[in-house]
Amino acid sequence: DDVRTGVEIEAVVKDAEELVQKVMGKWDSSHDPFHVYRVRSLALSLADEEGLPPESRQIVELAALLHDIDDHKYASTREKRTEPTAEEFLTQHQIDPTLKEAIMNIIHSMGFKEELNSSSKRKFSLEFAVVQDADRLDAIGAIGIGRAFTFGGARNSPMYDPDVQPRVNLTKKEYTSTRTTTINHFHEKLLKLKDMMKSQAGKRRAEGRHKFMLQFLDQFAGEWSGNL
Ligand code: ADP
Ligand code: NI
Repeated sequence: DDVRTGVEIEAVVKDAEELVQKVMGKWDSSHDPFHVYRVRSLALSLADEEGLPPESRQIVELAALLHDIDDHKYASTREKRTEPTAEEFLTQHQIDPTLKEAIMNIIHSMGFKEELNSSSKRKFSLEFAVVQDADRLDAIGAIGIGRAFTFGGARNSPMYDPDVQPRVNLTKKEYTSTRTTTINHFHEKLLKLKDMMKSQAGKRRAEGRHKFMLQFLDQFAGEWSGNL
């Protein structure tokens, strides 16, 4: 039985939600289960807009749900972790190998740093495009601002430091190894995401969120300098 019926998939989705809750329930709120649920609904809505068929929606939904549970940044909480990895979860639920591979390929290609310095335009599926775009849409706009300061706060990063310049042309290694201020993170990553959207639906939604961040940064700078 290589095609899952609606009822079977619903049960897998429910188990995946439980797994997300167990693994990410105590992570700081930049990467909590609500992030995952927002990404899932955004991704499905982009998938509809792009006209993806029902089989693709299954891939999109499971990839979105499982995309962050093995995040290395939260690996320290994994020492005593007993829950399965995304791959183990799919195997345990006897997901068809082709479907499983499609889902794991999406999860493994999601990261921002994977795309740094890779000038080669790689081919990608529309399923991957909508899940990655959804994850990135959740990193920009009002929610993106909230998440950035939450992440920075959880790591005790300064909001802003006038003596620390944003880094340009970051390599993968620099992106993960060096600490930064939260305002610099906007320049090093968040403001770049709009032009990295892969689906048309994602590009459209990124516009307003991007403008809102620019407005926020302007206001922040104005208040910092005492001009506002
Ligand atoms: P990816 O997995 O795509 O590389 P991240 O996990 O680095 O993305 O980012 C996820 C969220 O954490 C985003 O909302 C991002 O803004 C925030 N974040 C990551 N690094 C920083 C940082 N140095 N300062 C503030 N926020 C950060
Ligand atoms: Ni994510």
